[in-house]
Amino acid sequence: MELTLGITGASGTVYAYRTLQMLAASGAVETVHLIMSGTAATVAQVEMGVNLRDPNADKINRWLGLPADSKFIRFWRLDNLAAKPSSGSHKQAGMIIVPCSMGTLGAIASGAGTNLIHRAADVCLKESRRLVIVPRETPYNAIHLENMLKLSRSGAKILPASPAFYHRPQTIGELVDHLCFRILDQFDIPHSKNTVWTGEEVGEV
Ligand SMILES: Cc1cc2nc3c(=O)[nH]c(=O)nc-3n(C[C@H](O)[C@H](O)[C@H](O)COP(=O)(O)O)c2cc1C
Repeated sequence: MELTLGITGASGTVYAYRTLQMLAASGAVETVHLIMSGTAATVAQVEMGVNLRDPNADKINRWLGLPADSKFIRFWRLDNLAAKPSSGSHKQAGMIIVPCSMGTLGAIASGAGTNLIHRAADVCLKESRRLVIVPRETPYNAIHLENMLKLSRSGAKILPASPAFYHRPQTIGELVDHLCFRILDQFDIPHSKNTVWTGEEVGEV
């Protein structure tokens, strides 16, 4: 399977980091076409202390702890509108935008995108391929909510970066991973933990 993953300048770079690591470990995904917005690097620096400015495959492999010669990540520049994910004729399973800023959300919802993340998402919608958007903002204003509704009605899956607590996470890592598992679930990609709620967890209530 091939996927495209976009990282934007919303808070939560760690969700992209863990999702990419899980995709690499899953064995179900051959290639991830990776695209980063300019602000994504700023947020990555602030939140994870990592320098992802002028990113390239080497930098990304080092960040994710992948072997230097790994071909798992195919990195595309944001302004490269001739990149593979910009064409519907390039067959792939779909796209994940994690985390997704309100700016990128609005650009896709308007249908007037200007960069490769916007275009690749637009292609997924027009080709009826899975588009999983992980928005992050709080609180949402009416424009954000309307944009999400519009995208949901156009076929996107809105999977908010709202961590759950019912699995009793002991660390921030566990909190983050649970959300990333739900992202993988959208593509039926296997992962290390079974997150299916069985009803047995609470016993008699
Ligand atoms: C540290 C930091 C955190 C941010 N967090 C968010 C956020 O959670 N949600 C959001 O919509 N924008 C957030 N922003 C603002 C976006 O980065 C900004 O709107 C940017 O223009 C989005 O562009 P992009 O979608 O191309 O990355 C944040 C910016 C910074 C520097």
